[in-house]
Amino acid sequence: MPYTLNVNGKSTTVDVPAEMPLLWALRDVLNLTGTKFGCGIGQCGACTVHLGGKPVRACQTPVSAAAGAAITTIEGLSADGTHPVQRAWMEIDVPQCGYCQAGQIMSAAALLATTPKPTDADIDTAMTGNLCRCATYVRIRQAIHRAAALGSTRRTSPPASAGPGGASQDQA
Ligand code: FES
Ligand code: FES
Repeated sequence: MPYTLNVNGKSTTVDVPAEMPLLWALRDVLNLTGTKFGCGIGQCGACTVHLGGKPVRACQTPVSAAAGAAITTIEGLSADGTHPVQRAWMEIDVPQCGYCQAGQIMSAAALLATTPKPTDADIDTAMTGNLCRCATYVRIRQAIHRAAALGSTRRTSPPASAGPGGASQDQA
């Protein structure tokens, strides 16, 4: 069945089953492979994207629930890699293997959009569902503070307004 997805500011139609995970549609249909498949069961955060400005697990979000809401992937966070979170990540040199990092960055960007100056506790709470097998957690926290200093307050899409599919549902 055709669904219209608004991905990174562009409207596109995908003809897929309603229950197909958004992650599959992004990676296999739209070729947006920056969002990673980790566990596939909502436990690792590697597949984090923004839906209506909120972080969600793309592996647990059916296409039918994402249709009509603004979807932002790591490819759409900024046009040129200059989102403050991306700049901070490069400055601090956060990644090790890199596999979890798109999800980490998307969760961090969502946190800073609503909490411009997060405490360590805010960061730990917001990032708790994003696992890193390389244990880059100390650098992630450091980079989020750095991004806050750089002024990372912009949203990637309008605040969740529960469009079709419940953009306000939570999750990358
Ligand atoms: Fe692990 Fe989605 S792939 S939470
Ligand atoms: Fe390797 Fe996070 S950098 S899993």
